[in-house]
Amino acid sequence: MSEILLQIDGKKVQAREEMTILEAAQSVGIFIPTLCHHEKLEPYGACRICIVEVTVGGRTRLVVSCVYLVEENLVVRTRSEKIDKIRKAILELLLAHAPDSPKLQDLAKEYGADKDRFEKEASFCIHCGLCVRYCAEVKKKNAVGFIDRGIRKEISFIPEIASKECWDCKECFPLCPTSALQAAYVLIEALAS
Ligand code: SF4
Ligand code: FES
Repeated sequence: MSEILLQIDGKKVQAREEMTILEAAQSVGIFIPTLCHHEKLEPYGACRICIVEVTVGGRTRLVVSCVYLVEENLVVRTRSEKIDKIRKAILELLLAHAPDSPKLQDLAKEYGADKDRFEKEASFCIHCGLCVRYCAEVKKKNAVGFIDRGIRKEISFIPEIASKECWDCKECFPLCPTSALQAAYVLIEALAS
């Protein structure tokens, strides 16, 4: 297991080669916002809020920090005008789905995102997949999954599994970045059907 030396926001950081940029940043207390990341789950790279700028060999580009592995001599910037603009746009899109999410509202404040920029879509789920992946990867139950596709995609509990597993677990609820109560409502609906 070899050590990689890189720079994040001007700070020299020593990381293990299997670490992502996000993990390396977190290991030295540098904050990068995330919505679909969880340390117990496989990297997913869906929400893109964690993008950062990397420069290597004189070339600078944007990468998704929760999936991008550290490299020797990588220079990482976790904030810049460009990054902030992209995060703002992502948040404005997500706030159209979940305008009342405290987590999204906090991030919106930080990045100057306007929650009314886009027409509201009647949904609370931002498709981060945390509940679905946690149930599958950590609990190994697959009691909750996505139904439909594209913007119509939403979570649904599988009644036959949920009726046996979910009431004593509910570990996915607090993971939801938009609304744990809505997740509970979807569960109750599934069990009542
Ligand atoms: S219900 Fe919440 S945790 Fe589950 S995918 Fe949607 S936003 Fe993510
Ligand atoms: S936290 Fe990295 S893409 Fe969602």
